[in-house]
Amino acid sequence: MSSPLSVVILAAGQGKRMKSDLPKVLQPLAGHALLSHVLDTAKSLGADAIHVVYGHGGDLVRERLSKEPVNWVLQAEQLGTGHAVAQAMPHIPDDHRVLILYGDVPLIRKTSLEQLLERCDQKSLGLLTVMLSDPTGYGRVVRDGAGNVVRIVEQKDANTKERAINEGNTGLMAMPAASLRKWLAALKNDNAQGEYYLTDVIVMAVRDGMKIGAVVAGTETEVLGVNDKVQLAQLEAALRAERATQLMLQGVTLADPARIDIRGNVTVGRDVFIDVNAVLVGNVHLGDRVRIGPNNYLKDCRIDADTEIHPNCVIDRANIGPRNSIGPFARLRPDAVLHEDVHIGNFVEVKKSELGAGSKANHLTYLGDATVGRKVNVGAGTVTVNYDGVNKHRTEIGDGAFIGSGSMLVAPVKIGANANTGAGSTITRDAPDSKLTLARARQVTIEGWKRPEKKT
Ligand code: UD1
Ligand code: CA
Repeated sequence: MSSPLSVVILAAGQGKRMKSDLPKVLQPLAGHALLSHVLDTAKSLGADAIHVVYGHGGDLVRERLSKEPVNWVLQAEQLGTGHAVAQAMPHIPDDHRVLILYGDVPLIRKTSLEQLLERCDQKSLGLLTVMLSDPTGYGRVVRDGAGNVVRIVEQKDANTKERAINEGNTGLMAMPAASLRKWLAALKNDNAQGEYYLTDVIVMAVRDGMKIGAVVAGTETEVLGVNDKVQLAQLEAALRAERATQLMLQGVTLADPARIDIRGNVTVGRDVFIDVNAVLVGNVHLGDRVRIGPNNYLKDCRIDADTEIHPNCVIDRANIGPRNSIGPFARLRPDAVLHEDVHIGNFVEVKKSELGAGSKANHLTYLGDATVGRKVNVGAGTVTVNYDGVNKHRTEIGDGAFIGSGSMLVAPVKIGANANTGAGSTITRDAPDSKLTLARARQVTIEGWKRPEKKT
């Protein structure tokens, strides 16, 4: 059985090049903080403890991620990566393996880390490296004639020959805690940057007769660190492409895989079609043959089979049944529940309301805090007047009702089954079943009236 695992995530760097008031590790990638991506991967490894070394702006980082099961370790002064890891060591028992991750390397794959951990035991250290066409800025991995890793030299300390090495240090490594503790205590900062380099533990390990188990990363993307907004956008594009590919492999047709953003988990049925500029956030389910038109924002929602979302809709925490037609320009807000064959047209807003099968609100309408029965027709310009300035009230509309255009339904109010309301009515009292209820001034025409004329 392998020994317990402690993960240490380095996240104390300032991220000056972001030119942002938001700490670097809180910058969003696919809608989640960089550090959250790393934490999710660390948690998936089943670590016994996760330590996050934080520094500048750290209070905000702790606050935003306060629900995460991590031990926060302050590094008050940024004296180097070795110094950063040393801050976490008092919390880590000798018999643990220590896996070191970076808070600003968000796309690291679980499988790569598992390979790294396989190389880590009492006699061996796991080191993740990467082959780079341009290794500028990276520490270089120096190997001996037999191909064994012997040390890492930082760019700023490297000579011309060392700078020509294309194998870069990713910074991610795994090793036994007791040895790491010993090596960290022996680090010196007599180098070009005056820092305590974590990378210097490699040469110490070799001196102690340990093997360096180098794992070369499969792709450059997964080990890319984010230092500025340009690199952030590059990783965003990489992640977008990866998630779009996953959807297509599940059978979804995408009008353009470069123009869909998935910021959460999407589950799909068969033959789903998604047009350009869709943004999918949180948990989204799209049933069989669902069609999503251009420019749609879908957040935490369920859309059942054969429903079409026309262009330019905002759908947030709504539950949409089968064979619905939504939009263009519709807004479905939290707790909108639509049964089968419902039509919601342009400039219609639905909040905390249930609409029964076959009901329609096709134009310019607000339905809030309403229970609408089956086969109801809601005319253009209808408003459920649900708010008296202090409290919200409910509107109930029975099956088969016909709400005339421009009706104001002043809640709390009930419209009976198969009732009609006349166009332009302000309904303040319940309207009975199967009758026409009107509430508007009677139309008059003034006989003998003349238009005023201009005085000369
Ligand atoms: C480091 C490695 C280098 C590697 C590169 C990969 C060292 C000495 N060098 O270089 O070999 O190729 O990463 O990107 O380790 N951090 C702290 N506290 C500190 C310093 C850094 O928490 O005092 C954190 C940063 O927030 C960052 C990570 O450690 O997440 C790496 O720091 P960074 O300054 O980017 O390291 P590099 O000099 O680029
Ligand atoms: Ca870096």
